Amino acid sequence: MVVTIDGPAGAGKSTVSKSLAQKLGFLYLDTGALYRALAYALREEQVNFEEERELLSFLGEITIELFRKDMGLGVRVRGEEVEDKIRSEEIGALASRISKIPAVRERLLPVQRQASDMGDIIAEGRDMGTVVFPWAEVKFFLDASVEERVRRRVRELIMRGEKEVDQNAIAESIIKRDRQDMERGIAPLKPHPEAIIIDTSYLSVEEVVKNMLSYIKMLRRAD
Ligand code: DC
Repeated sequence: MVVTIDGPAGAGKSTVSKSLAQKLGFLYLDTGALYRALAYALREEQVNFEEERELLSFLGEITIELFRKDMGLGVRVRGEEVEDKIRSEEIGALASRISKIPAVRERLLPVQRQASDMGDIIAEGRDMGTVVFPWAEVKFFLDASVEERVRRRVRELIMRGEKEVDQNAIAESIIKRDRQDMERGIAPLKPHPEAIIIDTSYLSVEEVVKNMLSYIKMLRRAD
């Protein structure tokens, strides 16, 4: 079974996806981590991604794979696990920039789809319901106000140990990233017409997860 969860940065997708995966015994697929991992490798290797030939040669020879890790799936680039190197705002912004390049999305499409051969999955991202798993049995779209999303991102970065968190810069970066993700020509961030849209601004994680579990049960019963 595939359950998709799409939505903008800071809508609560990751926390909710992890909890849902744990409750259902599903694998958690974080597709943002794949875009972040490529962004990290591009930066490390100083690839000029605006040069088509340079980018295509990089995409052609890089190895990027998912592997089973704890309850979920980890990402390896050139055989190296990159989780602790990809969570900064800077890498997030670069991931968003490269994610509008069709060759980048094409490179990651089969990697993402392979995850559904590894078991039942909760697939989290921007285009899970619309492009990667349009056949998913259950599709969710999580949203929240910009103010609430900024608050959550600030809290998350502080918890990760970042010392200097500039709230205005975070707000700017979230608004810019939203615009970039929604306005790109390929696989833009938008709900699938069948998606269940949940505004999480005034809901706790537990409430969101509870709502989602009841939808999943209801839709499974209707099958
Ligand atoms: O969810 P995240 O913040 O880790 O994602 C980082 C960026 O990667 C996001 O701004 C856009 C891109 N992305 C995407 O285009 N499609 C996905 N399925 C997941 C992420």
